[in-house]
Amino acid sequence: MELTQRNEKLNLSRITLKFPPDMVSRKPFKLQIYESENKNTCDNLKKVAIMHEATNIENKYQLAASILKKIDSKKLSLKKCMSDLPSSVSTWEKKAIYALTIKAIQNKESIDKMKKFCLEATKEPMDQYLLQVLIGKLIFERKVALYSLPRDIPETNVIVNNRRKLASMKAPKRDAQTHIYLRINRLKCKMSEIIPILLANGFTQDETKDESFESFVTNCHALKMRCFKKDFHFKKELLVFRPKATKYITCLDIYLEGKVIIQDKASLLAVKAMKLKKRANVLDVCCAPGTKTAAMAACMKNKGTITSIDRDENRLKDMQKLMDKLGVSCCSITHGDFIDLAPNLQNPEIDVLLLDPSCSGSGRPDMSANKIDVHRIGKLAGFQTLMLKTAFTIGAKKIIYSTCSTETFENEVVVKTAMDESPEAANYTIVDPLPDWPMRSDSNYPFASKVIRSNETLLTRGFFFCLLVRNDQLTPPE
Ligand SMILES: C[S@@+](CC[C@H](N)C(=O)[O-])C[C@H]1O[C@@H](n2cnc3c(N)ncnc32)[C@H](O)[C@@H]1O
Repeated sequence: MELTQRNEKLNLSRITLKFPPDMVSRKPFKLQIYESENKNTCDNLKKVAIMHEATNIENKYQLAASILKKIDSKKLSLKKCMSDLPSSVSTWEKKAIYALTIKAIQNKESIDKMKKFCLEATKEPMDQYLLQVLIGKLIFERKVALYSLPRDIPETNVIVNNRRKLASMKAPKRDAQTHIYLRINRLKCKMSEIIPILLANGFTQDETKDESFESFVTNCHALKMRCFKKDFHFKKELLVFRPKATKYITCLDIYLEGKVIIQDKASLLAVKAMKLKKRANVLDVCCAPGTKTAAMAACMKNKGTITSIDRDENRLKDMQKLMDKLGVSCCSITHGDFIDLAPNLQNPEIDVLLLDPSCSGSGRPDMSANKIDVHRIGKLAGFQTLMLKTAFTIGAKKIIYSTCSTETFENEVVVKTAMDESPEAANYTIVDPLPDWPMRSDSNYPFASKVIRSNETLLTRGFFFCLLVRNDQLTPPE
């Protein structure tokens, strides 16, 4: 190791660490170290050198591959596998291993196809997990320095030799959010008051007539950054904008005073499906931060009662602030776990029970695929099923089960399992709440055509909901 430069003024040492040929980078490795005046430079540099000495390049990839193997064969979570790494692996190395593993997991679908191609392209035996890690690194990361990869092994060679072909096999990216919605809070004002304020603040309105929902979607794609349009379904309540308009909207007084709120259309669809009357009695389970609560209160003109329950105290504090800002006065907030509270909540006079439990959030545009972990989805599905089974015991006239997840496991599978396993579910029938909405479940379940799905193709986030109506409340067919 060699100290090549030192800037006394900035107290910065630029050093070049020279490693033996089998070491990390196979070429001189440059590091910049910031150190305090009284620390011994040599000691610091030694520490860094030792840390890098421990990081044998093959090791990092092998460890990531062994984690993938464990996840696959032992069904362990990534978190558990990471915590099982030997203590000799430094935090710095752990981060690198985690990044490699995540890349390999999040692109698994495409990588599986690429792996198949690689295995067919060479006769040499290969470690399929190492292959998965290396494809993740080489094909899904921008600008990879080849010298940083394990060399002269069939796994690297086959990828490097077929890089273009493999890159062409990548699945298209998930669409990012293309539009946002501004809900007019009708507890405080009307659409007719808001539009002139927006126009006075530099926005323009696209008043093109939409013959159909399809033409509305097409016209929305042509919207400019500071242009807005009335929503096709919620003409009195929703305005659609480009996401870049957010920064202009959030500094307007109408936003700060709670006269408008940015809220996705999908959650309003679930509220519309409830067909709430003015004096409705609603049980709002998993309520925080309260955006659907506020939309329900607006439908009920603050007249009925909404009993809102959540187990997260901090989220409830934020919810209370939001309710105050939006002028919601018909909602009473209870802190607690629904499973524990349920025996005391049974009441056949409840008009609607909204169950909106924690989910993977895979339908949210900000949700990167690496946060979506199959084991987590399995756990969530178990929890969601228990919540829905508990919801059946309340005896409400209608139940809405909703998530902002696109996973069948958290949606259709939960509904099916809870219905199969709850004795009380026999009292309920799944009813199509919005016959005009164009998207349904694409699953094979018999109720698939009656449950609502939505996603970015319909200009909303990924969303699912199902309406279950108590049999004595079903309206006879006309
Ligand atoms: C998807 S968020 C709800 C969003 C909310 N309905 C809205 O529209 O703003 C899920 C909520 O469920 C709550 N939760 C999870 N498990 C719960 C339980 N067993 N009992 C009560 N609340 C729970 C979480 O604390 C979280 O706030």
